Amino acid sequence: MKKIVVLISGSGSNLEAIAKACQTGNIPATIELVISNQPNVKGLDRAKKFHLMSKVIEHQQYNSREEFDQALLDQILPIEPDLVILAGFMRILSSNFTDTLSGKLINIHPSLLPDYPGLNTHKQAIENGDLMHGVSVHYVNSELDGGPIITQGALKIDPSQSEAKLINRIHKIEHAVYPKVIADIAKGYITLKGDQVKFESDSNFGPNHMEFFNV
Ligand code: GRF
Repeated sequence: MKKIVVLISGSGSNLEAIAKACQTGNIPATIELVISNQPNVKGLDRAKKFHLMSKVIEHQQYNSREEFDQALLDQILPIEPDLVILAGFMRILSSNFTDTLSGKLINIHPSLLPDYPGLNTHKQAIENGDLMHGVSVHYVNSELDGGPIITQGALKIDPSQSEAKLINRIHKIEHAVYPKVIADIAKGYITLKGDQVKFESDSNFGPNHMEFFNV
């Protein structure tokens, strides 16, 4: 069984999708620890629901980004995780953190990268009149939302729909795609070699993979 650590900041709906997939055996791994940088968030209740160990490490308690990131590493490294998953973790990470976990650190970002790194991606896609929007799962490096992309999931924007509805549709894609990618990584079908993602033939994914979702 592979060992996973999940970092969250909020609702934790992706955490729940991942935890379910671990529970059913679709992901051959166990979530050893959930870390939130925010206390009292719904994601911590979800961790409890799945009987997962969780810790709150509040970034405000540290003098610098580097010190906070070191506090995270102090919790993460003794676990010797195979994979560290950012699931709505709303902190920029220092290069020491991303370098230390290089090849083991993944993120899901709600846009079709390289479009819209950072925040407010849904609003920007609507305001720019984009026809498509989506999610990207990528390995994390020191560049914000800039690491090698593993896969993308896309949908067609309905201009008559609200931002809230779009966010809801994006979440549906996330909950389908993220556990599937994590399962393939846990099975050794996806790895990072240098700055290239390597896909074994058994993987559900491959170079420049993008799936269209009718959600
Ligand atoms: C997701 O949309 C994810 O792409 C982004 O933050 C959101 C987290 O949602 N990074 P949740 O906390 O998993 O519900």
